[in-house]
Amino acid sequence: MNILLTGATGFVGKQLTIRLLSEGHTVYALARNERKAQALEKAVPSEFQQQLIHIHGDISKKLVGVSSEDVERLTNQIDTVYHIAAYLSFDEQDREKTFEINVEGTKEVLELSKKIGTENFFHVSTAYTLGDAQYAEEELHPVDRSFVNSYEESKCHAEHLVFQYKEHFNINIYRPAIIVGDSRTGEADTTFALYGIIRSFQIMKKRMERKNLVDSPKVRFLCNEDTAQNFVPVDYVVDVLTAGLENGKPHTIYHITNSNPPINRKVYEILTSELDFHQVQLVPTDRKDELTEQELRFNEPMEVFHPYIDKTLTFDDSNTSQLLGDSNVKPLDMDEKVLRTIIAEKCR
Ligand SMILES: NC(=O)c1ccc[n+]([C@@H]2O[C@H](COP(=O)([O-])OP(=O)(O)OC[C@H]3O[C@@H](n4cnc5c(N)ncnc54)[C@H](OP(=O)(O)O)[C@@H]3O)[C@@H](O)[C@H]2O)c1
Repeated sequence: MNILLTGATGFVGKQLTIRLLSEGHTVYALARNERKAQALEKAVPSEFQQQLIHIHGDISKKLVGVSSEDVERLTNQIDTVYHIAAYLSFDEQDREKTFEINVEGTKEVLELSKKIGTENFFHVSTAYTLGDAQYAEEELHPVDRSFVNSYEESKCHAEHLVFQYKEHFNINIYRPAIIVGDSRTGEADTTFALYGIIRSFQIMKKRMERKNLVDSPKVRFLCNEDTAQNFVPVDYVVDVLTAGLENGKPHTIYHITNSNPPINRKVYEILTSELDFHQVQLVPTDRKDELTEQELRFNEPMEVFHPYIDKTLTFDDSNTSQLLGDSNVKPLDMDEKVLRTIIAEKCR
């Protein structure tokens, strides 16, 4: 098949590109940055490089800023568009840019897709369009619900926008939870979420060793021990996204979530043992007032994630189970060994 992919230079896009190429597809990879486009090409095994075609574009521009020659080249050639590009910021100061890229940008990708006449439009959203709710089904959520941040809200608006184009192509919406490294190698080309925590712990460990504070009291890290984070390995995300090519049902939403997510205590135990750094103590997020200046600095990068750390969410993934069953793909089984592989890779 011929596939157009936005966000090909990102964490998920790169892995999906490599998988699609290895399955014999031709991938037109949209990228706005030449250097990153070249890095993507280098990451692709040489035997597949012929099937990878770089399309220059920027989703914040009219019709994605794709040249008229490229529009012509793509017209009536593309079976499926995967729209993966997005702006992932939980900072409220970025609200305007978040909507510009995630909503207006999605509109431009939809318009381009309409113009070139793709058959399928696969939109990568997030499981967190559920906002403040604790349970989500694989259906559109109302945009007037309460959201944890602008990122969630923008992604929910984008989902509604995508469904407005359902006369033009088959729509699939894929909603991953928190994407972590590859389940077999642990490899993860991202600094987001779990990787921010690992980085904070590494910095704190170095600082304490440098200042010779190895025997000082434990540093407090704000985190509820008993709730669970919905981690999904990137290769599982790619499994579901590629299964959609053969067996995705039109106008359907798929949760790419973990029905047995690891509890925070387990993540913390593995992290401290892999880093060999045992001077951190977990305390509930409502005890922030008790922290020292140094502890506040240690916790600051994770503050935007606190609304997530205190709750365990449940996602119905019946559509995804059916999709994987139809495609003979194994469901997710993220056991402790897999979790350790993923964490250990970044602790080296
Ligand atoms: N990571 C997660 O835990 C997670 C969880 C749930 C859902 N998701 C969703 O999964 C998708 C992929 O996430 P990711 O982790 O792979 O993100 P990422 O590594 O930050 O990649 C984002 C991609 O979007 C591209 N992009 C951003 N703005 C663009 C623009 N104006 N024009 C063209 N391309 C642009 C980036 O290009 P540059 O390389 O040029 O910056 C990059 O290729 C996103 O839709 C995200 O919302 C991610």
